[in-house]
Amino acid sequence: MEAVDLANEALAEVYAPYVHRRFEAGDPEWADRVAQARREWRRRRLTAGLKRLWRGPPRRPDRVKASYEQIWGRFTFRELLPDPGRKLYAVQWGGQGMLANAWGVPRVHLFCLMRLIETLRPASVLEVGSGRGLNLLALAARFPDVRFAGIELSERGCEAARAVAAQAALPEELAQFIPFEPRDVNAIRRIAFHGGSAAKLPFGPNAFDLVFTRQALEQMEAIRGAALSEIARVAARYTVMFEAFRDWNDTGMKRDRAAVTGYFRARIADLRAYGLEPVLVKADLPHKIYMQVGLVVSQAAGGCAPGEGTCDAA
Ligand SMILES: C[S@@+](CC[C@H](N)C(=O)[O-])C[C@H]1O[C@@H](n2cnc3c(N)ncnc32)[C@H](O)[C@@H]1O
Repeated sequence: MEAVDLANEALAEVYAPYVHRRFEAGDPEWADRVAQARREWRRRRLTAGLKRLWRGPPRRPDRVKASYEQIWGRFTFRELLPDPGRKLYAVQWGGQGMLANAWGVPRVHLFCLMRLIETLRPASVLEVGSGRGLNLLALAARFPDVRFAGIELSERGCEAARAVAAQAALPEELAQFIPFEPRDVNAIRRIAFHGGSAAKLPFGPNAFDLVFTRQALEQMEAIRGAALSEIARVAARYTVMFEAFRDWNDTGMKRDRAAVTGYFRARIADLRAYGLEPVLVKADLPHKIYMQVGLVVSQAAGGCAPGEGTCDAA
């Protein structure tokens, strides 16, 4: 695979507006925050077992769907903008502690996706768990010649994405959020937003050159095997995953949190069982102190010739 420019200097520039406070090494206030979070997740882990007996396993697809119908129903584009008055999360990156708004990290991921598409030059891209379509809207405006599609479990997410795609322009706040220049905003009208589940993708084998997930597999632990098999089946050349792989979340409060929430527990090496060969791993991205999300790019065993774009969705 060609080298992709994901230098931390450029990522730091993309992230900077969302960071409202930085802590020097050894700052006792930061150490206190981390210790408090550690205690809190430990406490929640101890009670999680009881809750599970009463409520059943977490991340059941019907509950995930219900919760995202609510989340996307109340979402407003204003949330995408940096604002010290909004909730601040304790984040770690490059050994530094900081307080930052939630949408700074997705903005960094979106920038990485742009760089990956620039380098890998797929003719077609699918996002699995596309939510309100924010990534696809941004990427389609940047790469008007690429065929983009999304599949999303919640009806609200899907409908809201389609409504934006039908407009003549991107909402002002979304345009400000996007960390690169769009080339042709009209291209958003051609994005195909599908409703459905990752457990059964309505596309043929090798239907897309590149398939990506951004913090969506984390919601699919109950259907992990089916979702990964389906992603591998429809990916002709590459998969790109911004997810909290177990490799980075298997100790301390990160492990406690994963156990409480029932989030994604696959290891990077597990992807091989689905015919996905990891070729680029970047753990060094900003992340909340209790959950490390990194990037894994894998080569798919699919049948499309690189860059030829001969793979059509069924
Ligand atoms: C944290 S959100 C991320 C949304 C989007 N990837 C982004 O970056 O803005 C996770 C999304 O995955 C979707 N999802 C969860 N389970 C799914 C499934 N089985 N099939 C398709 N989408 C699913 C949720 O409805 C939600 O919109």
